[in-house]
Amino acid sequence: MDAIARCVKSEHVCVTREDSFGTIFGRWQGSEPSLPAVGTGSHTDAIPLSGRFDGVLGVLGGIEAVASLRRVGFKPRRSIDVIMFNSEEPTRFGLSCSGSRAMAGALTAARLQTLKDSLSNHSFVEVVAAAGFGKLDEQALLDAARLSSDSYSAFVELHIEQGPRLEKAGLPIGVVTAIAAPAALTVDFYGDGGHAGALLMHDRHDAGLAAAELALAVEAAALATGVEDTVATAGLVTLQPGAVNSVPRHAHMELDIRDIDGPRRDAVVKKILGAAEEIAKRRGVRMETAFVNSDPPAISSPTVVEAITAAADTLGLAYMRMVSRAYHDTLFVAQVVPSAMVFIPCTGGFSHRPDEFAADADMEHGVSVLALSLAQLSMQ
Ligand code: GLV
Ligand code: MN
Ligand code: MN
Repeated sequence: MDAIARCVKSEHVCVTREDSFGTIFGRWQGSEPSLPAVGTGSHTDAIPLSGRFDGVLGVLGGIEAVASLRRVGFKPRRSIDVIMFNSEEPTRFGLSCSGSRAMAGALTAARLQTLKDSLSNHSFVEVVAAAGFGKLDEQALLDAARLSSDSYSAFVELHIEQGPRLEKAGLPIGVVTAIAAPAALTVDFYGDGGHAGALLMHDRHDAGLAAAELALAVEAAALATGVEDTVATAGLVTLQPGAVNSVPRHAHMELDIRDIDGPRRDAVVKKILGAAEEIAKRRGVRMETAFVNSDPPAISSPTVVEAITAAADTLGLAYMRMVSRAYHDTLFVAQVVPSAMVFIPCTGGFSHRPDEFAADADMEHGVSVLALSLAQLSMQ
């Protein structure tokens, strides 16, 4: 909190603004404020039963990096922004990275119109108006959030690794060279339902069993590539009517498929959709599918990677170059700004669970690398 207070109170250096998606920017003005700025940041929203470090580290760590540069009297040439992106997780609106997608121009008005607040069932436009941002239509919201090509010269996001590689290698820093391509889709199976006692097994069209078979087909499709970079998950399955004595009449599934290789990811998605069709036909249930998102991978900027590795070298911190299998706001920022990420280890590689943990010393290393990288990029 000290770091936040220092940043917010210094009236001549920190200017805050919010964009039309609720993403918050805090700007430390550089000596040449008309130059494209350097950005850092992450998100603070979370999934159900999440930990306390995913995203939060990159926001508070960004504020602390700026505060530490100010403490030592550093004066940036380019302004430095700390950004708290809105809705990185798909928890509230069903779509990941809505704030950074809008900034990158990777969201259409038609897609935005389909998003519903899982809390109130209101549209995105209604939620924005209720939050006091005024009544703008989807296109106006997107236009207002979009970054211009000269907004930033570089972007660096600090994040916990969310996997075990750094801890296993005994290394304090990961330098992210690419972010895997995520896709998500919904599959709905509709059967007839019926009485769990009276309806004989051979007369059933059980939507729940279609979903169960598809969950196994999702696992098989990912394993069949033989490459550890392919991952696929049936993370959400709901059955209706949801009574112990009723054959499920509706199964709703949400599937998550990722790979660092976009075409290989797309081939796995195709295989899963083919399996869903076959299962539906064989079981006599109706099926509907829809894409939630299907995004390309991101490749880090060599210049930003170089700034991070130089910072780690200066600090005497060993690092490895690595791929991020999780997605981040950087996946979208990288479409319009040269970007890269700094990872630190998290205990056991655990993430998206309540026992997610990063040690103070590791966070300090990450913030130091971030601070030096920002300093260097702000002078270029
Ligand atoms: C981010 O939360 C992800 O699911 O990769
Ligand atoms: Mn997350
Ligand atoms: Mn995150």
